[in-house]
Amino acid sequence: MGLATAAGSDLKTELARCDGCHAPNGRAETMPFTGRIAGQNETYLIYILRQYRAGHLSGVNAAIMTFATKQLDDAQIRSIAQHYAQLQ
Ligand code: HEC
Repeated sequence: MGLATAAGSDLKTELARCDGCHAPNGRAETMPFTGRIAGQNETYLIYILRQYRAGHLSGVNAAIMTFATKQLDDAQIRSIAQHYAQLQ
């Protein structure tokens, strides 16, 4: 899965949390309002995750994502973005 770098099991834990809302395939099939993230442009994913983490996006759903990203460091965000960008 290309996740050998960065924080190892910590990253798996984080991905499991993402998957809970975005589905393991990243296609938002269970919760459509979360948006499809599989195959999304990696640079965009890094950008938007950092925006959420910084609390720059407003609204109830954005607040959920700020909560979901606030403990991630930049290396984890890069690894997570790479992971979902690789999914189809
Ligand atoms: C509790 C549910 C929940 C969790 C956990 C969660 N998300 Fe989200 N995510 C959402 C919701 C809801 C939105 C829509 C936010 C909005 O409308 O601004 C969203 C939006 C996003 C977007 C933006 C999609 C787009 O089209 O712009 C990305 C990227 C994303 N999430 C990635 C992640 C990642 C990576 C994780 C794990 C670190 C994660 N999410 C964890 C619920 C969640």
